[in-house]
Amino acid sequence: MGRVVYVNGAYRPHAEALVHFEDRGYQFSDGVYEVVLVRSGKMVDTAPHLARLGRSLGELDIQPPMAEAPLRVVLNELIRRNRIREGFVYAQATRGVAPRDHFFPGPVKAALVCSARARSWPAAGHKPAGQSAITLRDERWARCDIKSIGLLANILAKQKAKEAGAAEAIFIADDGIVREGGSSNVWIVDEAGALHTHPLGPEILGGVTRAAVKRLAAGAQIQVNEDRFDREFMLGASEMFITSATSFVKPITSVDGATIGNGAVGPVTQRMFDLYNDHTLSAAD
Ligand code: PDD
Repeated sequence: MGRVVYVNGAYRPHAEALVHFEDRGYQFSDGVYEVVLVRSGKMVDTAPHLARLGRSLGELDIQPPMAEAPLRVVLNELIRRNRIREGFVYAQATRGVAPRDHFFPGPVKAALVCSARARSWPAAGHKPAGQSAITLRDERWARCDIKSIGLLANILAKQKAKEAGAAEAIFIADDGIVREGGSSNVWIVDEAGALHTHPLGPEILGGVTRAAVKRLAAGAQIQVNEDRFDREFMLGASEMFITSATSFVKPITSVDGATIGNGAVGPVTQRMFDLYNDHTLSAAD
């Protein structure tokens, strides 16, 4: 059986999954998306992902193409039809199809496309390897809290990271503050073993993984500081990691060629990795 995706009300073979030329997502990036981790055939942290999708749509004044409950049904159906045990689902909603004009069109129905893809995730007890990152000026727009499909600055930054042999590009604001990664949130561990990450606000995406890690850290009596820190503070950190639905807790052991801490994956990072990995194995719903 070939890959099946969902396009505006119908399940279609992947090769025949087409959207209209005048879909506003295609012409204006006028839409939003979500990526949800799938473990043991079930989505992880579905409720906060769907809540964030609703919030992103609301911020852009796009009527949800579908309520949360039927959207869950569609995503689970894709998991089933594509026989995904380990992987992720993708959902994208745009303002819909209308003759190209910058103004919002009249009452058109929002468009919805969804897919599911297999990807293997780490087993319990896995020891993740340290990865490198580069820093770049944050050239994105001022509403990074919206999970917009307009990702030009992100893809340019991530491509530069790839060409430099790095796993992630980290955005630095013009005032020197470390914001987040090209597709992840950034965390550092200070010498006292406390975590630091950028506070929520328009400068970063409120990651679902970030929220889970924050909660798991609190449960493990690890202090979490949501504060602004600069590149120098980051380079002087004892440990560092990034989080996202698809990168889990990914240790970063060098930035711009400088070693973080002693260059090895530290105990706090490994602990957060283990806690989050256990969460994904137990919290699927
Ligand atoms: N990206 N910040 C940015 C800019 C992101 O694109 C992402 C996720 C995150 C982490 O969010 P979450 O923990 O909810 O995955 C933070 C997804 C995975 C992507 O674009 O593929």
